[in-house]
Amino acid sequence: MIFLHVVGARPNFMKAAPVFREFKKHSGIRQVLVHTGQHYDSAMSDVFFQQLGIPAADINLQVGSGTHAQQTAQIMSGFEPVVLRHRPDWVLVYGDVNSTLAASLVSSKLGIRVAHVEAGLRSFDRSMPEEINRLVTDQLSDLLLTPSIDANRNLQREGIANEKIHMVGNVMIDTLIQMLPESDKHLPFGLPAKFALVTLHRPGNVDNTDWLKEMLSALNDLSSQLTIFFPVHPRTRARIEQHYSEMKLGGLKLLDPLPYLSFLALQKAASVVITDSGGVQEETTYLGVPCLTVRNNTERPVTIETGTNILVGTDPKRVRKALENVLAGGLKPGSVPPLWDGKASERIVRILMA
Ligand code: UD1
Repeated sequence: MIFLHVVGARPNFMKAAPVFREFKKHSGIRQVLVHTGQHYDSAMSDVFFQQLGIPAADINLQVGSGTHAQQTAQIMSGFEPVVLRHRPDWVLVYGDVNSTLAASLVSSKLGIRVAHVEAGLRSFDRSMPEEINRLVTDQLSDLLLTPSIDANRNLQREGIANEKIHMVGNVMIDTLIQMLPESDKHLPFGLPAKFALVTLHRPGNVDNTDWLKEMLSALNDLSSQLTIFFPVHPRTRARIEQHYSEMKLGGLKLLDPLPYLSFLALQKAASVVITDSGGVQEETTYLGVPCLTVRNNTERPVTIETGTNILVGTDPKRVRKALENVLAGGLKPGSVPPLWDGKASERIVRILMA
């Protein structure tokens, strides 16, 4: 059997890695790894392949950046001949990025079965490009592999047949569990006992120049109370450079994007994480680290209901208050959601082999 994995952007790599490795334990399987090139900087891509122990992609479509239409269209036209050449039994797509949507569209139109890993998540906010990607990908998929029970309910509500839906747990947590011992070696020396870790990259946040300026000012003020590390996504870096190069950032430590293991080590050691990422909400829930999500909604409600995540909205004043509350000891207890146990990829492979 031939399984073709499609990855494109940073959060895809840690989801595909454990599934790829799990398939390797079986004989009679050929795997093809396609990288669309949606993320292309070494710090956003290559270093993840190296650290996660996955081989370089068999094919890199090198699509790079562009508008959503350009990026999606380029992935589609580059991907179609790849599918025709390899004729896989299954195409596996991960998460909710443009590469996920583009590969699902191409495959389903060619009559190739699609398995969506991380199916069923919904923010119910169609202003997020990822929400559109999730909705369409799930409608097209033949197998919907979900991380949590809310995702099953969303899919059932959208009329997806029950037999296509399988709750398998969270593949990103498979990677986290596997890499946690190794990540300890990547903790920087001389870290302060207390620090906050920040990531912000959602277009809905960082493309709003007034908001970004206010948020950076708030973080900068807070950095007189505790060290704040902020590894900056290229999108956010470009906005900061366009608009605020004149702004004096004092104790706020802006870093380049970090490799997986260093970022994981910092998350584990952080007093609190402030983020608008999806995956970071899940990782902090597993690690039991307080997480303040700078968004008005989340497609990962289990991290709030069960985990340590708090949705604080996007008002920098509220973020500041929530951070001060955590630092004053106002911790929200959390536990690990069902099936976030390091065995999601095992379940996925078992289902696909059957
Ligand atoms: C994409 C995903 C988002 C995910 C994020 C993780 C979509 C719609 N969005 O957003 O869900 O959370 O990845 O990082 O697929 N850039 C570089 N180097 C790179 C990649 C991007 O400089 O390697 C810059 C480019 O200026 C580009 C911008 O970042 O225009 C945004 O990249 P893009 O792939 O469009 O979306 P992300 O914001 O990264």
